[in-house]
Amino acid sequence: MAEKILLTGGAGYIGSHTYVALLAASYEVTILDNFQNANRSVIDRLEQLTGQPVSFAEADIRDATTLAGLFAEYQFDAVVHFAALKAVSESVERPLDYFDVNISGLINLLRVMDAAGCRNIVFSSSATVYGVPDETPTPETAEFRAMNPYGQTKISGEQILNQLTAADDRWNVGILRYFNPAGAHDSALIGEDPRDIPNNLMPFIAKVAAGELEELQVFGDDYDTPDGTGVRDYIHVDDLAKGHVLSLAALLGDGQSHLVNLGTGEGHSVLEMVSAYKRASNRDVPYRITERRAGDVPVYVARADKAEEILGFKTERNLDEMCASSWKWIAGPHSSEDPGPEEKG
Ligand code: NAD
Ligand code: UD1
Repeated sequence: MAEKILLTGGAGYIGSHTYVALLAASYEVTILDNFQNANRSVIDRLEQLTGQPVSFAEADIRDATTLAGLFAEYQFDAVVHFAALKAVSESVERPLDYFDVNISGLINLLRVMDAAGCRNIVFSSSATVYGVPDETPTPETAEFRAMNPYGQTKISGEQILNQLTAADDRWNVGILRYFNPAGAHDSALIGEDPRDIPNNLMPFIAKVAAGELEELQVFGDDYDTPDGTGVRDYIHVDDLAKGHVLSLAALLGDGQSHLVNLGTGEGHSVLEMVSAYKRASNRDVPYRITERRAGDVPVYVARADKAEEILGFKTERNLDEMCASSWKWIAGPHSSEDPGPEEKG
């Protein structure tokens, strides 16, 4: 019988792509999302993409009663936990909201899982836990450095999960530290759809290429990198989604807890990204060099060998494919349609 998975935050960017990958791997998946940062139309588009009705609950991860009801109804074998708030600057303005959703929400979920006897969880962590790392490519052994409340929530989440597995060996935990997810599904039915002006590089460039924003501000060209601009390890969101399938297989197969970076091991600068996007879109991407962004890290690149060794994880898609799929999504009919009820502005 197919194993049953609860996907919290499954209507979001990485969650929706992981939903498709999990279905392809024959899991039975239920999405829980409160649409805090997702469009309702994602559910219809997932149905269109997979040709199957989506099992879906609109709920908040902090709502223990609804969560317990879902566990009683579906008897989940594992949870993939994406639901969180993720904007760094907002986390500095509203730290308590971030602690509430990202930490209290996690604890609430773990309590409900424990009561239901479901003790397998994949947790979305981030390269942000490394702060400004001493070493690049950065190995999983690098120390935690919280740079902001958002980063702190990911460190705290990991620590809670580690202490939980140490105290009770019935828990199996997969901690995945994502580097910089980019791109979209090739169908152009799902992709990254920020509600406000994007904070992250690829969605910002996409909107400049589409003519929705005038120019990209390149935050600093005086870093100690080949062209002076910030370097990141961009990973195609479909590769990232496959990492979750492998993580679940390890947890549900032999109960193997793990902590791995998910990245390509290769870095690209902001200006390389601009060039790649121009090639993919055949559009101009005007940019201006400005001051460094406060709290920015010069280089984030993953040591990627542990995920390969433990999970057999290998990325397959390059930067050109990330840009091409992003452009197909942005230029397609589904992007930015049907904003949810909390659309700002
Ligand atoms: P996203 O905002 O697109 O997805 C998160 C989803 O969670 C959204 O659909 C949102 O509506 C939902 N959600 C938020 N609060 C909720 C709540 N209280 N109850 C129920 N649902 C709630 O973000 P994403 O980029 O897909 O990120 C997914 C996870 O990966 C997050 O935990 C994020 O911190 C982590 N992460 C993201 C990145 C990145 O660059 N995108 C990098 C590293 C880690
Ligand atoms: C940012 C967050 C990080 C979070 C990640 C994913 C900060 C300081 N860090 O990381 O904690 O985990 O997003 O959500 O916000 N850039 C520009 N112009 C732009 C946007 C970005 O030049 O308009 C540059 C940045 O300086 C950086 C690179 O592009 O060098 C990538 O930036 P971004 O996409 O925001 O990702 P991170 O900085 O890695």
